[in-house]
Amino acid sequence: MNLSWLKKYNLLIFDEIDSTNSEAMRLAKSGVSGNFIIWAQSQVAGRGRSGKNWQSKPGNFYVSLLLSHNIEPEVQPELSFITALAVFDTIDFFAKKEPLHLNLSVKWPNDLMIGHKKVAGILLESVNIAGNHYLIIGIGINIKNSPQNIDKPTTSLLEQELYSADAGRVLDIFIRQFDRYLAQWQNKGFAKTRQEWLKHAYKLNEVVIVDDGKNRISGKFKDIDMKGGMVIQLPSGQMCSLSAGEVFFGTK
Ligand code: BTN
Repeated sequence: MNLSWLKKYNLLIFDEIDSTNSEAMRLAKSGVSGNFIIWAQSQVAGRGRSGKNWQSKPGNFYVSLLLSHNIEPEVQPELSFITALAVFDTIDFFAKKEPLHLNLSVKWPNDLMIGHKKVAGILLESVNIAGNHYLIIGIGINIKNSPQNIDKPTTSLLEQELYSADAGRVLDIFIRQFDRYLAQWQNKGFAKTRQEWLKHAYKLNEVVIVDDGKNRISGKFKDIDMKGGMVIQLPSGQMCSLSAGEVFFGTK
């Protein structure tokens, strides 16, 4: 392992915690400077998007990054695309080791899929303390267990026969990829990130149903815009851009 990234991040490791994102939020609120990686073997109050619980038994990957270098709120959502690409490359790294070909994709706005099953999720949170914007990026990857009793099909790296993946090695590969995509974003802007993300997009050019909690819109998923919104072509031919929402694919 090349742990040179330890020079850039303070690494905090927990056997068990409520939620690594909550710990990152506590650190931000205490006004820390520098970047942190909070890594837990298990969480008792793991959080997913839309207020959902994130099952967090030992064996999976539960990490939050706390970035304190004042990333403006308008561009913060772009970091979820960077994170998704880094998780994509991390899983791909372990697949290539076997070697195995996985039908791996990134699902808007921030899930990782193997086939039609979710293998990882990303939760972005932010807080402004004394004029400083902190960004928290929580990443959960199913390594050994795929959560049961939830409304979506899930899988794990173990189920996909990626036997060499363990949380420590996943962290090492992930942070190196994250730093690479972050530098690319800083140098070349979101256009490059967007281009890379679209190469791996789940259901691009297919009909999707998007539910924002109030309305369901059906149309062809054509693109993501320069703010990371999902661009859908309606049956009328008209294009519409969606910035948030729970996305259902197919007829569900
Ligand atoms: C989602 O797909 O709903 C996002 C899931 C994010 C889960 C991770 S696990 C590490 C971090 N701590 C949390 O409480 N949540 C995120």
